[in-house]
Amino acid sequence: MPDVKVMFPPDEVAKAVGRVAADIKRDYRDKNPLLVAILKSSFVFLADLVRALNMHLELDFARHFSYGRGVENSGKVRVIQRPATLVRGRDVIIVEDIVDTGLTLSLFLEALRRRKPASVKTCVLLEKPSRRKVAVPIDYLGFSVPDKFVVGYGLDYDEKFRYLPAICWLEDKSQEP
Ligand code: IMP
Ligand code: MG
Repeated sequence: MPDVKVMFPPDEVAKAVGRVAADIKRDYRDKNPLLVAILKSSFVFLADLVRALNMHLELDFARHFSYGRGVENSGKVRVIQRPATLVRGRDVIIVEDIVDTGLTLSLFLEALRRRKPASVKTCVLLEKPSRRKVAVPIDYLGFSVPDKFVVGYGLDYDEKFRYLPAICWLEDKSQEP
């Protein structure tokens, strides 16, 4: 079992979510944005974000598969569920847990833009800049993190650790849990 270490305790996470929400609120004051969360790992971030936003918005979900077991991106990202809401003409904010290589978010952005939204922005809890393979715009960001495997606050390692209230990292990522 790898060692779980705290990277950002719950109060720091809450502060970052509050900061991101304040920025979005300022930019979308008179709009009714459509938040599209990429499942599954963004669900905790999304739940805190919408409550911090405390404004009119619509919500939908998309689901991607990119990781199988383990910690390395397979490089194959496919859409397995698109948002059902009509995206055309909407101000869309994509909510994602973490941008690693950038493949997932860039493919999702491409697919969404084909559906002619009025605007698209991205709201990302965590990014690992050193791991980027494709450039993706991140408009609202919680934290930049080093190249460590992150779990907790909705993020998983092989479906484990999503329940942790802090953002944590796994000390030995070569070991099976
Ligand atoms: P990307 O396509 O390489 O940017 O990877 C994005 C997806 O990989 C995210 O939506 C996460 O689900 C997953 N992922 C990347 N890094 C981590 C991590 O450190 N912990 C947990 N999931 C991760
Ligand atoms: Mg995940």
